[in-house]
Amino acid sequence: MVSAEQMDSLFFSARKAAEAAYAPYSKFRVGAALLCENGSVVTGCNVENRSFGLTICAERNAVFSAVAGGSRRFIALAISTPDSVECVGPCGACRQVLSEFMSPETPVRFAGSGPDQVNTTIGELLPWDSLHDLAV
Ligand code: THU
Repeated sequence: MVSAEQMDSLFFSARKAAEAAYAPYSKFRVGAALLCENGSVVTGCNVENRSFGLTICAERNAVFSAVAGGSRRFIALAISTPDSVECVGPCGACRQVLSEFMSPETPVRFAGSGPDQVNTTIGELLPWDSLHDLAV
C-alpha cells in the first residue's frame, strides 16, 4: 500500500525530473518518477530529437532506466507536466510499456502546474489489457 505522503514525495521527484527535460521543439517538459518494489525511486524526462520521431517520453525513459538498473516491479508512478496548467496523462505507447511492469491496481498520479491532480491506476489508464497475463 502506497501512502498519500509517498505519492506526494514521488510527485515531487517527477516535478524535479522535468527540469532535466530536453524539449527545445515542443517546449513541453515532462518528468516521471517510478517507485520500485525495493523502495528506490527512478526518474525520467522526455528527450526530444531534431528527427522528431526519435523523441522518447519521460515515462518510457524512466521505465527503461529502472529496468537497466535491475528493477522490474513498480508500485507507483507520478508524472509532472509543469508547462501545462491542466493535468496531462501518459500517451498510449507509454501506458502499454508501463503496464508490462505494473499490476493494474498500481497507483498513478499526474498533474500540471495548476491546482488539480489526477489519482488513478494503470488499469484505469489501460483497460481491457487482454495481454496482461502473458507478462512473466
Ligand atoms: N511526452 C512525454 O514525455 N510523455 C507523454 O506521455 C506525452 C508526451 C513528451 C513527448 C514530447 O517531447 C512532448 O511531451 C510533447 O509531446
